[in-house]
Amino acid sequence: MAAAVAATTSSDINSMSTSSTKRSAVPSLSFFKDWTYVPAPESSDHIHLKDQYGLFINGEFVRPHSKRYFDTINPATEKKIAEIADADEKDVDAAVTAAANASAKIWKRMPGKERSKYIYRIARMIQERAREFAVIETMDGGKPIRESRDVDVPLAANHFFYYAGWADKLDYAFPNRRPQPLGVAGQIIPWNFPLLMAAWKIAPALACGNTVVLKPAETTSLTALKLAEIIQESGLPAGVVNIVTGFGKTGAAIVNHPGVNKVAFTGSTDVGKIIQKAIAGTGKKATLELGGKAANIVFDDAPIDQAVEGIVNGIFFNQGHVCCAGSRLLVQEGVAEIVIRKLKDRMETLIVGDPMDKNTDIGAINSKEQLKKINEYISIGVNEGAELYQSSCTLPSKGFFCKPTLFLNTSQSHRLVQEEIFGPVLAVQTFRTVEEAIEKANNIPYGLSAGIWTDKGSKIFNMTSKMRAGVVWANTYNKFDPTSPFGGYKESGYGREGGLHGLLPYVQW
Ligand code: NAI
Ligand code: MG
Repeated sequence: MAAAVAATTSSDINSMSTSSTKRSAVPSLSFFKDWTYVPAPESSDHIHLKDQYGLFINGEFVRPHSKRYFDTINPATEKKIAEIADADEKDVDAAVTAAANASAKIWKRMPGKERSKYIYRIARMIQERAREFAVIETMDGGKPIRESRDVDVPLAANHFFYYAGWADKLDYAFPNRRPQPLGVAGQIIPWNFPLLMAAWKIAPALACGNTVVLKPAETTSLTALKLAEIIQESGLPAGVVNIVTGFGKTGAAIVNHPGVNKVAFTGSTDVGKIIQKAIAGTGKKATLELGGKAANIVFDDAPIDQAVEGIVNGIFFNQGHVCCAGSRLLVQEGVAEIVIRKLKDRMETLIVGDPMDKNTDIGAINSKEQLKKINEYISIGVNEGAELYQSSCTLPSKGFFCKPTLFLNTSQSHRLVQEEIFGPVLAVQTFRTVEEAIEKANNIPYGLSAGIWTDKGSKIFNMTSKMRAGVVWANTYNKFDPTSPFGGYKESGYGREGGLHGLLPYVQW
C-alpha cells in the first residue's frame, strides 16, 4: 500500500465495514475515497519494442505481401506504440502452407516426449520474461498492470507447462483410441486476454501434434508477436507456429483457407456465427468461445463482504472485458439493501486510471469503439428506466476510461440484462426463491458462467445442477487454472478449453 495510506491496513478497512450491519454504526467506505495514493508506476524502461512488426511465418519475421501496416496504440494515453503488419490472403496462404509442411514433415511425426520439451521451453521463457510481457500487455491493451502481472502472464506460462505434460501421455488421456493430430489449426483470438488466449490456443494444439496459424486481435498484437520472438529463440521447428496480424478480413482468410483443418475462435457471438456458417459442410472442426452474461447469485445466507468483493472482482476489475464477467447481480430480497449499499461503498474506493500504476483497479477501455459501445449501453439502460449509479471518481482527461457503473431496478426483458456489454456495467435484479434465481439466471441467450454465494453446500449443488452455464463458481469468482475446462452453452459457443477436455478438440481417431 502506498505511503499516504500506510498507517491503515486493508484489514482495518474490512473490519470497519463489517463491524455492524446498521448503516448508522458503520463508517462508510466512501470515507476513504478522498485518500490520495502516491503514484506507484511500473517501470517500462526494460522492455524492448520495435517500431514496426512483420508477420511471423515459417520461423521468420517477414514483411506483409500487402506492404500495409496499421498502428497499435496505448488506450490509456492514445499514443502510438508500434506499427503492425496487415496480412492479406497471400500472407495467410503462406502461413498455412508453412504450417502444413511443418505438420507433415516434422511435427506430427515427432514423438510426444520431444514435442513436450519444446512446449516446456516456451513456458520457461515466458516465465523468464514475465515482467516484460506484463508491461507490454498493459501498454497495448489498457488492463491494470496488477492483473497482467498476477493473472495473464503466470496463467499463460502455466498453460504451456500443463500441456507440455500431456504431449507424451495422449494414449493415457484417450485409452485404446490412438489419438492423431488434425493438421493445421487456425486460431483467432480477442483483445481482452491477448497472451493468455494465445497460450490457451497454442499449447494444447502443439501438445496434440498440430501446427498453428494464430491471429491476435488488431488492438493487441504485441504480446503475441513477443511470443513469436520466444518461439523463434526456443528453436521450435520453423512453421510449427505462425503468427499473422490483421483485422477481421485476415481472420476470415484463415477460417476459409482449405488447408486449415480446425478453427478455434474466441470473440463475439456475431463473428462466431459467421465462422460457423463459413465452415459448414467443410469438415473443419471448430471450438467457439463466445460472449457471456453471467449472474452472480447472492443468497441471504451468503458471506456478504466476500460476495461484494467477488461481485467487484467479477465485473469491475479488467474493465468488465471478460467473457465470463459477472455482469448481472441477482440478490435475494432479504439482503438486497445491505449488499447494494456495501457495493456502492466499495465502488467509491475503486481506483480508475493509469493502468501502469500498481494501485489501479480499473484501467483503460481497450479501444475507442468499445468505449462508445459501453456508453451506448449506459444510455440504453437509462432509457429503459433502470436507475443509474456511478462512482464519483474523476476520469483521466486522455485515454478511454469508464466509471464503474451500477444499474438498479432492471428487469429480465431489459437489454441491459440480456445483452453482453463488455464493460464495467453491472445490472442488478432481486429474487425471493431458489427457483426464481435459477429461472432468472438461465433466461438469457448466453450460458458461459455463473457465481453462487451461500453458506449452504446443498444449495450450491442444487443450483449448479440446474444452471445452464459452463462454469459455476461457488463463493468465489473468476478463478482459473489450466487443469480446469472452460466453455459455454447456448450462444456462448461450444467446445471446451483447458484441462483434459481441452485436448479433445485437437485430436482425431
Ligand atoms: P470480434 O469478435 O470482432 O473480434 C475477435 C477476433 O475476431 C479479432 O481477432 C478479430 O480480428 C477477429 N474477427 C473479426 N471478424 C472476423 C471474421 N469475420 N472472421 C474471422 N475473424 C474475425 O470482437 P470485437 O469487435 O473486438 O468486440 C465486439 C464485442 O464482442 C465486444 O463488445 C464483446 O461484447 C464481444 N467480445 C467477446 C469476447 C470474448 O472473450 N467472448 C472477446 C472480445 C469481444
Ligand atoms: Mg493497442
